Amino acid sequence: MQLGPSLTLQNPVCLAAAPWQLPDDLGYERLGAIFTKTVIMEPRPGGRGHGVIRVADASLLNTTDRRTDGAEQLVQEQLPHLCRHGVPVLVSITAPGIPGFRKIARFLAREAAGQIAGVEVYISSPTTLSGFELTPRFVREATEAVRTELGAEAALVVKLPPWPDHVRALALGAQEGGASALAASNTLKALHIPAHGEPLLGGLSGEALRPMALRCVYELAHDEKLSLPVVGTGGIFTARHVSDYLRCGASAVQVATGEFLEPGLTARLAAEWEATASFTTSRAAACNN
Ligand SMILES: Cc1cc2nc3c(=O)[nH]c(=O)nc-3n(C[C@H](O)[C@H](O)[C@H](O)COP(=O)(O)O)c2cc1C
Repeated sequence: MQLGPSLTLQNPVCLAAAPWQLPDDLGYERLGAIFTKTVIMEPRPGGRGHGVIRVADASLLNTTDRRTDGAEQLVQEQLPHLCRHGVPVLVSITAPGIPGFRKIARFLAREAAGQIAGVEVYISSPTTLSGFELTPRFVREATEAVRTELGAEAALVVKLPPWPDHVRALALGAQEGGASALAASNTLKALHIPAHGEPLLGGLSGEALRPMALRCVYELAHDEKLSLPVVGTGGIFTARHVSDYLRCGASAVQVATGEFLEPGLTARLAAEWEATASFTTSRAAACNN
């Protein structure tokens, strides 16, 4: 479970990027890593959306604007709390274009290098920020900009959208740009029509996302041109879901909706994985004797 040149995870189960406030006593020290909410260098005020809405069984629509949270605030206020669990923390970053990615990576290299294990790049389109115009070239250039600022040793995970038909080409861009791992996937653009009021735009996560995210992981893990480890993300609620992702070729997994709906779930899944791994090791040792 190597996500970077000097980042080996103690456990494949991680927390996915989201605004976490983690209590002390739920066992987060067992996790492989914690990914922070996505931050940007120059946050925009307002426009934060309607929050997180349950749209189907164990499936959420996140309507909040992830591009209004500032990197400086994260480093000063939230990072110390996330780091106290003693597991690697990776900061999720985004920017409106290549210079923006360079700037935020330079800031983190200067202000937080001693605290973080690396970054996760939330890749977005240069012109619209909407993802529609995302190209392999943009992914490569954004990744390159971040890699240049962070140096060769930092873990650099590029998080991709849940588009099975396009994910391999985008991943190739990330690999060429110097990523050390891929994450699949982010939320799927979706729309919810409430009983009253206007249609709501947002990102779909949870149970409804899992089949698409699994397919993306499969595509990435079985492409002969791609050699990066893949982190599977989408609709993980049980140990079976963790092992489904690992069977599809993931090296690790991230949980967001499961943790949001049931705080502590990720630590419990990490503990279950630990127990299974030590059972498998002791059974293998017994068979060899
Ligand atoms: C409440 C919430 C907040 C999220 N915030 C972020 C974020 O800041 N950055 C990001 O890249 N993904 C964010 N995500 C997406 C998750 O990291 C994850 O990629 C996606 O939800 C799929 O995993 P899941 O089905 O376990 O939720 C968020 C998801 C949720 C539910």
